[in-house]
Amino acid sequence: SFVSSKFMLLDAQKRKYAVPAFNIHNLETIQVVVNVASELNSPVILAATPSTVKYAEEELLFAIGKAAAKKHAIPIALHLDHSEDIDYIKKCIDLGYQSVMIDASHHAYDENVQITKEIVDYAHKRGVTVEAELGRLGGCEEDLVVEEKDAFYTDPSAALDFVEKTSIDSLAVAIGTAHGLYKSEPKLDFQRLEDISKLVNIPLVLHGASGVPEDMVRRSIELGICKVNIATELKIPFSTAVRNHLTTHLDESDPRKYLIPGKAAMERVVIEKIKMCGSAGKA
Ligand code: 13P
Ligand code: ZN
Ligand code: NA
Repeated sequence: SFVSSKFMLLDAQKRKYAVPAFNIHNLETIQVVVNVASELNSPVILAATPSTVKYAEEELLFAIGKAAAKKHAIPIALHLDHSEDIDYIKKCIDLGYQSVMIDASHHAYDENVQITKEIVDYAHKRGVTVEAELGRLGGCEEDLVVEEKDAFYTDPSAALDFVEKTSIDSLAVAIGTAHGLYKSEPKLDFQRLEDISKLVNIPLVLHGASGVPEDMVRRSIELGICKVNIATELKIPFSTAVRNHLTTHLDESDPRKYLIPGKAAMERVVIEKIKMCGSAGKA
């Protein structure tokens, strides 16, 4: 069923699991996510960055996501990930998108509050869920590139102030994860996460989960993470499998055939990540 992400995250918070949010790009990746989640009876979020929404076209992606969600009994939300553009978010909300992230984390604190609040006011009037970020994740996610020196962690007392001032529905925290893969094993600041959880009672979101060892993600979930974002770890196996298939089948010209190995490779990762999130059987 096609739902907003708010109640999914609140259920995850209550029952101590996390809803996996998988970044999708097209019909095939949407199919993989909803089919696997349905098979495992897991709630799931289809996450689309603004560049994906523009690539796949706003109305078209929404129609596909909604239709895919309606086919299944599990709760499925379509979420606009990492949007920095207020007007673009409003446009997507007007088109029916029910869950959005306003990422104003590159602005100074007061401006982040003000921009986030403007989106919350617009969204809540229309029953739309809002995620925002405080602190700044390093790494690279499509158009969003943050140098390591510009990344900074979420301050727990600022997090409380931010949530109170903005009335957001969920908060993305910076505790040491980064977008993309890691050069060496990431170090997560679990103490900081615990401190944030004690002060803030809305669901917390972990971005940059690709490359984070499973035990660290599980520990984060125990400490209050209710949504886990995964992109890179899906894209790489999908592309590698398609590339391998095409280089060994030089006559292949049917996208319905050469995309199958990519979907199969992605499927394996989606299964693994749903299990990691503890969301299997929770739908
Ligand atoms: P990864 O690419 O590191 O999985 O990050 C995903 C993410 O945070 C999407 O918003
Ligand atoms: Zn992210
Ligand atoms: Na990552």
